[in-house]
Amino acid sequence: MPLSSPLQEVVDPRFSRHHLRLLLKRDDLIHPDLIGNKWRKLVPNLDAAAGRPVLTFGGAYSNHLRATAAAGRLLGLSTFGVVRGHELAGRPLNSSLAHCTANGMRLHFVERAVYRRKAEAGVLGVIRAEIGADAEDVFVVPEGGSNSLAVRGCRALGEELRGLADVVAVACGTGGTLAGLAAGLAPDQRALGIPVLKGGFLDTEIRALQDDAFGGPRGSWSLDHRFHFGGYARTTPELHAFADDFEARHGVPVERLYVAKMLYGLVALAEEGAFAPGTTLAAVVTGRPFP
Ligand SMILES: Cc1ncc(COP(=O)(O)O)c(C=O)c1O
Repeated sequence: MPLSSPLQEVVDPRFSRHHLRLLLKRDDLIHPDLIGNKWRKLVPNLDAAAGRPVLTFGGAYSNHLRATAAAGRLLGLSTFGVVRGHELAGRPLNSSLAHCTANGMRLHFVERAVYRRKAEAGVLGVIRAEIGADAEDVFVVPEGGSNSLAVRGCRALGEELRGLADVVAVACGTGGTLAGLAAGLAPDQRALGIPVLKGGFLDTEIRALQDDAFGGPRGSWSLDHRFHFGGYARTTPELHAFADDFEARHGVPVERLYVAKMLYGLVALAEEGAFAPGTTLAAVVTGRPFP
């Protein structure tokens, strides 16, 4: 997968007054439909699918579902999307799900209680039977796309940043991107994850993802849990004002559910004096606003 996304320096007094440099790792520019970490995670999975239909999971606004649908269309693979929320069935599709079906994804809505248990073999079997995908040899990609193939795919993100930054910040959902990123960085660099979900056991999950992908812990990483803004898909007027201002200052579109929270966290940490003067920070732009 020969690609390296651009790295751009932005001049922002909220960093420069603390003698910090801020670089943006523009993974949002990798591909118009397979944006950011989605490319890094999906390409190794679709290679492994080797032509088989791909089945995956997500919420009604899932970036991962949209990216999987687009990848399926681009590579000529059929895709099935299992969507959280049976109440959505029969309603007009929102723009995100409409984008999925426009790319040929077949959607299936399941009760939230069933969705939570989707990793159980029996539950997955029932879902597959309902979709009509039980007879087919389907390749299953987990929610958020974070399996060991994806984590290994994200290692290239760290490798591309070797020697270029001291601290690399990334927003975390499942933590798969951080798990791979940290593994790819050089020993004198560290990854900083900003979880967008409230609570949970993300540290443990990231350790498990690294165990599966690499056979043990890799790299140096930590999480700062203070910047979730109420939890997954939650935003506040303050967050939107911050993101609008960042866009106006730097001309970079700021996705609100992940990227804005990470950038907000970086600014807050810089103001707190969390980084030594002279530190170069790289912020990974993992997504782009939709639509
Ligand atoms: C834009 C964006 N950034 C970051 C992430 C977090 O990725 P991960 O689930 O690997 O932590 C996601 C996950 O869906 C995303 O869509």
